[in-house]
Amino acid sequence: MEEKKRNIIFSGAQPTSELTLGNYLGAIKNWVALQEENDCIFSVVDMHALTVRQDPKKLRERIIELLALYMACGIDPNKSVLFVQSHVSAHAELAWILNCFTYMGELSRMTQFKDKSQKHADNINAGLFTYPVLMAADILLYQANLIPVGVDQMQHIEITRDIAQRFNAIYGDVFTIPEGYLSKTGAKIMSLAEPTKKMSKSDDNANATIFLTDEPDAIVRKLKRAVTDSEALVAYREDKPGVMNLINILSAVTGEGVESIEARFAGRGYGDFKAEVAQAVVEFLRPMQEKRKALLQDRAYLEQIYREGAEKARARADRTLRKVYKKVGFVL
Ligand code: TYM
Repeated sequence: MEEKKRNIIFSGAQPTSELTLGNYLGAIKNWVALQEENDCIFSVVDMHALTVRQDPKKLRERIIELLALYMACGIDPNKSVLFVQSHVSAHAELAWILNCFTYMGELSRMTQFKDKSQKHADNINAGLFTYPVLMAADILLYQANLIPVGVDQMQHIEITRDIAQRFNAIYGDVFTIPEGYLSKTGAKIMSLAEPTKKMSKSDDNANATIFLTDEPDAIVRKLKRAVTDSEALVAYREDKPGVMNLINILSAVTGEGVESIEARFAGRGYGDFKAEVAQAVVEFLRPMQEKRKALLQDRAYLEQIYREGAEKARARADRTLRKVYKKVGFVL
């Protein structure tokens, strides 16, 4: 019997702070949809988090919280492999090899490196610079062909492709060449305070970002203050980035189309519109927040999930790593 061809999907998020609505709508929402029909692997990428200073106690807590959040969003450990990156040493090992196939010039063109090194000028470490190589290792270890991410990660997918193609050109077909996968409306959720900038975990302005753990009153307050414009017209236009962003958010959390939203709000002011967006976000997040809280009560269960996940991930990752070691000439 011929088996239906399934995509191999890999993605992850950093446990650096609470996740944002942007992380959910840009990435995790797609992961949940994709796991039904595909072979999915999702990771809490804790090794990436070390590129900026972390408090060890907080990091340990956030890793578990992020695992619980994935599950609360709908990632099902019976359908997907769910694991913590540092539990599978092949990530660090392949990253080293790939470092030797990546050029300083290409890494120095990464916009995220430029942004982060500006923001953390006192700690421009080598890990921050070679971070895309670790990300390439994450993806290539599992021979993943489809990578659901937000727009901000597309440049890292591009460099992953370049590294994989370079390696394959020398050693033969070792790695699958992956492609990025973006969601229709949520691929770039913007800051509520400066809608030409992406919504980010690390924004200094507390009103700019909706965190997935925000209480309803905080969500209402932040959306009420969201920057729009003076036209009082709910229209999806590039010159109205604030309104466009709110339409994207409403569309992504309710599934309603952009045109239908525009039509429904014709002749109504921003006050009404923002209140409805806020309500929709609150309702969207509520079940996830409740599930997350409940999951965090049962640490033993979460531990069992990440241990089993690591075992499955390790078996698959080691297969690729051994192949790479053999190809480059290591003695096995
Ligand atoms: P991270 O932790 O910054 O973000 C997790 C995911 O959320 C997406 N995202 C957004 N999407 C839409 N609008 C936004 N405002 C927004 N902000 C963030 C990101 O694009 C990402 O998909 N390097 C990655 C993690 C990673 C990874 C990987 C991803 C490590 N290895 C391998 C895919 C494959 C990161 O820092 O994502």
